Formats: sequence, C-alpha cells, structure tokens
Amino acid sequence: MLALIQKLLRLLLNGFKPLLAGFQPASLNPLRHLGSLTIFFFWIVLVSGIWLLIFFRTSVDGAYESVEYLTHSQWYLGGVMRSLHRYASDAAVITLLLHIVREFAFDHHRDKRWFSWITGIPLLWLVIPLGITGYWLVWDRLAQYVALATAELIDWLPIFTDSMARNFLSDDALSDRFFTLMAFLHLIGLPLFLVLGIWLHVFRINGPKINPPRLLMSGSLLAMLLLSLVFPALSQGKADLETVPQNIGLDWFYLAIYPLVDSWELAWVWALLAGISLLIFIAPWLPPRASRPVARVDLDNCNGCERCVADCPFGALTMMPRSDGKAYEAEAVVDADLCLSCGICVGACPTATPFRRRSELVPGIDLPGQPMAQLRETIIEASQHMQGQRRVLVFSCAWQKQANPGGASDTAVISLTCMAQLPPAFLDFILSRGHADGILLLGCGSDACTYRLGAEWTSLRLHRQRDPHLRQRVDSRRIAMAWEQPWSRYADPRTLLSVFRGSLEVQGASEPQTRPASVYLGGRAIAWGLFAAVVGLLSVWPRYQPIGVNEAMVSLSFSHAGERIQQCRQRSQAELDKLPPNMRKPADCPRERHPVSVVFQVDGEERYREVLSPSGFWNDGESTFYQRFPVMAGSRLLQIDMNDSGSPDEYHVHTQSLNLAPGEHVVVTFDRTQQEFRIQ
Ligand code: HEM
Ligand code: SF4
Ligand code: SF4
Repeated sequence: MLALIQKLLRLLLNGFKPLLAGFQPASLNPLRHLGSLTIFFFWIVLVSGIWLLIFFRTSVDGAYESVEYLTHSQWYLGGVMRSLHRYASDAAVITLLLHIVREFAFDHHRDKRWFSWITGIPLLWLVIPLGITGYWLVWDRLAQYVALATAELIDWLPIFTDSMARNFLSDDALSDRFFTLMAFLHLIGLPLFLVLGIWLHVFRINGPKINPPRLLMSGSLLAMLLLSLVFPALSQGKADLETVPQNIGLDWFYLAIYPLVDSWELAWVWALLAGISLLIFIAPWLPPRASRPVARVDLDNCNGCERCVADCPFGALTMMPRSDGKAYEAEAVVDADLCLSCGICVGACPTATPFRRRSELVPGIDLPGQPMAQLRETIIEASQHMQGQRRVLVFSCAWQKQANPGGASDTAVISLTCMAQLPPAFLDFILSRGHADGILLLGCGSDACTYRLGAEWTSLRLHRQRDPHLRQRVDSRRIAMAWEQPWSRYADPRTLLSVFRGSLEVQGASEPQTRPASVYLGGRAIAWGLFAAVVGLLSVWPRYQPIGVNEAMVSLSFSHAGERIQQCRQRSQAELDKLPPNMRKPADCPRERHPVSVVFQVDGEERYREVLSPSGFWNDGESTFYQRFPVMAGSRLLQIDMNDSGSPDEYHVHTQSLNLAPGEHVVVTFDRTQQEFRIQ
C-alpha cells in the first residue's frame, strides 16, 4: 500500500520534471531545493518580522491598532513587510509539504536515514503553531475565531483544570497577559526551538544544502514582493467578542484543521493529528527492510587520501589514526549504523582503477555485495556480446525504474547501486580499451538522486571539477549523463538511447541544444507567478463561515462548586481535647462536594445535559462548564437548570427570552455573589 502511494507520488513529482526542465537547467529545479527554499522563506519571515516587532504593541487594545498603522499609514514599508511576513510563511508551508512528500516518495526516509525524518516531525509541530500564534496577535475577527477554537482544542487535553476558552468570551475576561504570552511564543519561544530543530535535522547530513541557488532565491523573493504589492495582506475588522466572526478569510496553509474543530468531536480532531504524526513517525520502518552489507575498508590499499570521507553523503566515514603501522597518517573507518551501501565512496577512491595489471583489483574501499573486481569482469563480459558500429554500454542505477533500454545486439545494460559508484577510471577503461563506443549513464536523476549527491558528484567528476576526475584523454562526447542532456526530457530510456546513438554518428557536430535566455526567463516568470498566485489565493480563500448566516451563538461558561456532601458538625469538648492543639477546630467539615448537573434548553428543546464532578484531588473544587451552541437568530426562550446539592428537586432555574440578531454572541454565566444565572 505504502509502496503504491510512493509510486503515485513519484509519478506526480516526475510529471513536473519535463515542465520545469523547459524553464531552467536541472540544477535550478526547485524540487531539488525544497528544504533550503523552506529555510530561505524563513529568512524572509525573520527579517520582515523584526520590522513588525518594532511597531507592534502587545496589548489587547494596542495590537490591532499597531498592525493597522503598519498596513495603511506605512503601507510602502510596514505594509509590504507585513504581507511579506504572511506570504513567505505560507510559501514555507508549501515547500515544507513538498519536501516531506518528495523525501517520502523517493525513499529518503527509510531505515538508517530515519534521523532526518524523525527530527523533521517536531519541526512540523513548531511551524504550524508559529503560524497560528501569528494570526492570533493581529487581534482581528480571524484572530478572535482562531483564539477561541485553539483554546477549545487545548482545553480538551487534560492539562488545565480551568477552561482556557473562557478567556475569549467577553471583553471583561480578556487580558493583556495572553497577548504577552502569545507574543513571547511567536517572537521568541517557537522560533528559537525551530532554529535548534533545523540544526539538529541536518546535522548528520554531509554538506546539507542550506541555501538554494541565487537565482531561486531572487525569484522567490521577487514573487513574494510582487504578491505583497498587488495583493497586500489585510486585517479582517477589529475583534468584537459580542458577535461571532462571520465569513472569514481563512489561511488554509496554517488553519485548515479549524473547520474540523467546529464540526467534529475534539477527541476525533486530536485522534486525527496524533494518527498522522504516528504514521509519519513509523514510516521509516514500514515495512522493515533487510540491510545490505556495508562498505568495507581494505587497509592494504587505503592511502588515507580522505576523498571517500568528502563524498559520502551520509557522514558514514571518518578518518582515524592509522592502525596498521603504515606510513600514512590516517585511515578511513566506516560507521555501519550510518552506511547505506550506496558505493559513492568507492567511486571516489583513487585506488579503484580497472587498469591494474599485476595486482588484483581491490580498492581502498569497496562494497562486499558488488565489488569493483566483479564490475570489471561484468563490463568485459558484456562488451564481448555487443556487436555493431556504435555499441553503447548503459549503466542504469538500481532506482531507475523505467523500461530497460537493452535487448539490441549493440547495447548492454549494467545495473549499479548508485551512478556515483562508478569511478571515472572505469569510463576511461571502457572507451580506451574499446569495450564500447559510447556510455549512457541512466541514473535516477539529479532532482531525485536516492543517495542525495550521486548525480551531482558524477557530473562534477566527469566535468573534471571534482576528484577523482575523468582524464583529459577521454572524449567526453562519448559519455552521456541522462539527467544533464537537453533530451533528458524524453522519459523513455529507449528514446534516450537512440538519440544518444544518433549523436555518436555525427561526432562533434551535435552540440547540446540550448534555449534562448528569454524562453528561460519567461518560463520562470510564469512558474513563480503561478506559485505566488496559489500562495495569495489560499491565504484567504475559500472563505469560511463558522456558524450559519442566520445563526447566533450562545456560550455557557461558568464554574460552580457543589454543596458539601456532609454538612459541618460542631465538635464536642471531649472530642476537641483528644485532638493535638494545632488541629482543634470547633467544626468538622468533610471536604468532598456534590457533582453539579446542568441542563440547557432553547425553546424547550434540550441542547445540553452534563453532570460534572468537582475538581481537585479531594473532590472539593469547582465544576467548570464550557460549551457553545449555534442557535437560530430571532426570538428565543433560553432556560438553564442547575442542581448542585444532589437532591432531585433543588434546581437553580433561569429562564430568559432574547431576541437574537444573526451573528450575535451571548454568554450564560453564574453570578457567585447573587447565586443566580446571567445571560448577557
Ligand atoms: C522547518 C522545516 C524543515 C526544513 C527547513 C528542512 C530542511 C531540510 C534540509 C536543508 C535538508 C537537507 C537537504 C539536502 O541537503 O539534501 C533536509 C533533508 C531532509 N529532510 Fe527536512 N526540513 C524540514 C522539515 C522536514 C520534515 C517535517 C520532514 C519529515 C517528516 C523532513 C524530512 C527530511 C528528510 C528525510 C531529509 C533527507 C535526509 C537524507 O537525505 O538522508 N524534513 N531537510
Ligand atoms: S578514498 Fe580510498 S584511499 Fe582514500 S581514504 Fe578513502 S578508502 Fe582510503
Ligand atoms: S557506501 Fe555510501 S553511505 Fe556507505 S560509506 Fe560509502 S558513501 Fe557512505
């Protein structure tokens, strides 16, 4: 099932490939830089956030006004910063979700790679609350809705004895303390944990891509800037706790769960969130896979050059002091818990050369399951079966799941774990010894290399920009890397092969086709424009109606202590004398109280019935009631009955007729001093 989902996602992501390849070289494909793009969007959020912080006032009355000032009076800077802050946060969610999907689809989360995956989960749980608290701080109609719904969600957890949601029912209950707490969480607490979390997330990766290429950075910044100017972020009217927010523009990137808070039982909402998190958590081991034998160092051939350490994408290699007494300073050591048996280190080892005549081919580091000596034999054997003028040897990586281009007598296919497992000296060997006329490297693609850096290292080595590089004497036109050539847009490897064979026929004449710069520029502008449009649209649309257009809302919100189960009893003098002096209270009052039961009716129809036990370890505290109900607007008869004595006919009863306007919000409370209900 999971494998099927992965396959579908791969198809979807690969579907974008030809489209994106038309706009830019593979190295600028945004799907390759989703993690670093997310970090870049956070940078925009940080810088714009600092500007907002300078003018923001953390009080109930000041918050909305200060944001309005920034948006309208200072629109050219503060307004733009506010919009940038919102839109970059939204864009970060898109790139983050795509990042998760891509890492999952291409199996980058499995088995020994669990660390980055597992450390990514808390980042999700930090980013979403970061957005939610941001919306809260503006204190407009959306913030009012978000505050109440979030508080109700948190109230479901058995953390606080009192109801947090009650703080957002009336202006009297609201305090600046919450604003200070939200401001602290949004501006300091959550960002700090996010930075620490990102550091932990990438710390085991060798050379993580923290910054996207400059062109991607400028494109995304420009897109967000234009969106901010064309479609500035606005508040949605000042919060007013006497009415219910209607028809609000919800930011679906951060607040998509909120309609469920309104329509589902909160237990189910939590179950959904916990279920998704759990599924993500166990995904790396679903199903468990047998691991392959890890890379092995052969000290007799290791000269301590460190190239394998530099190229291992997973930090599985370290240099340690020499243990065999040889004259070299250090030796490579493999950490079996981190090694994914990709073989990239073998491709980097200068001793992995097939030209050796006298000694056996045993490189400094090798994969026991697929040794270089065996690869050399396989190449020689395959070449002996090829015939024709333009014999092509295809190296296909094990993750390249498309049709096998072999079958013809002038083609042979050899499978490798990763393309970067093939040392450049082998390509030299194949061409110079006439084992083939051309070599096609059919890796899983530079935007989705299973082993992160395989395609990149291969390209750099063959372009002679990274050691060990292809020797100058090799005619590089006889080698094609499927992911680099313009015709890599042909999805079918057979088509690729015939185009490559065609290019071998007219050696020297076939320069790779490049597109005019204007096509690239136009294509990129359209791509970024579409991205910005999605960000802008989903940040407020589709609009959301928390209650029906003709409905009002009634909130029940009070705490009340039931009567004591046993009345106080005066102690006799004899009893007092028996007690230690410090415990000689004249009355003996058992602490336990009755549960409180409440029934609420609208026009005679029962809407709520609850019996709540007293809070506290000794069952001696208050029972707290909080519930809200949408009620049809118009003339309504509300009735609330409360029993706090356990005796069936002793009820506090309150009945009140109200003419409720659509969207009006009334709160039913219990006045402790007068011992009666109030509806206001
Ligand atoms: C704030 C959010 C996040 C940021 C900024 C972020 C950033 C990054 C970066 C920069 C890399 C290194 C990319 C490379 O150089 O190859 C990476 C790798 C990765 N991330 Fe994230 N990430 C985030 C959240 C997540 C989440 C939520 C998950 C999954 C639950 C996740 C899963 C992974 C995986 C599996 C890798 C690849 C590790 C490997 O190749 O072995 N990330 N991330
Ligand atoms: S690349 Fe080869 S020779 Fe160099 S340190 Fe690694 S194993 Fe030893
Ligand atoms: S096989 Fe891959 S993961 Fe293992 S040490 Fe070599 S490069 Fe690193």
